[in-house]
Amino acid sequence: MNFPGARGLGVIDVLIDESTLRARVQELGRELNALYPDSAADPPLLVGVLTGAVTFMSDLMRAMDGHVEIDFMAVSSYGASTRSSGVVRILKDLDHVIEGRRVVVVEDIVDSGLTLQYLLELLRQREPRDIRVVALLRKSKADAADVPVDLLGFEIPDEFVVGYGLDFAGLYRNLPCIAVLDPRLLEAGADDAIASAPPGAAGSV
Ligand code: IMP
Ligand code: MG
Repeated sequence: MNFPGARGLGVIDVLIDESTLRARVQELGRELNALYPDSAADPPLLVGVLTGAVTFMSDLMRAMDGHVEIDFMAVSSYGASTRSSGVVRILKDLDHVIEGRRVVVVEDIVDSGLTLQYLLELLRQREPRDIRVVALLRKSKADAADVPVDLLGFEIPDEFVVGYGLDFAGLYRNLPCIAVLDPRLLEAGADDAIASAPPGAAGSV
């Protein structure tokens, strides 16, 4: 497989390739256009959840016509682990006042759903006119929190994925596709991930 970051760094499978991502994001942009026909007079505010959603946000906003505004929030999620602690901290709040506005939360992936649940509660208290959620990925899992996702890119298996903004231990965000890592890398933990590109890992690309 020939893409940046894939030089034997433990990527074992490409789940969603670049052209499939591109096509789906274009569709999501068109669906959003249809939801905000008044965007010239009343531009929706796209709220990207840092850092994972930056790639998706940047492609999605360019797939939209009419006016939009963008803003970002940073919340703490997993630290260096691959599991949600359920503890969410706001590290960066919005620059915009959202009272009376039409808000679109742009998320990279819904896993346990806890981050999104917390974020939606917080934003609703600020009395926006409405809030919709666009998520690129959602994992199929029975025990996830029941959070409303209005537009979804792809439902994926319950596996840890990287690329297109998503990281493991801060790395792999620059992969242009959604990929699955060698489980041995995940087990080894974040510290080893940085040093150990298992060049001989079976099936790595
Ligand atoms: P949740 O609170 O469990 O839904 O997870 C929310 C955040 O954890 C996402 O916005 C991602 O930033 C991160 N996350 C969850 N699953 C993955 C994954 O498979 N790869 C990389 N990051 C993930
Ligand atoms: Mg995220």
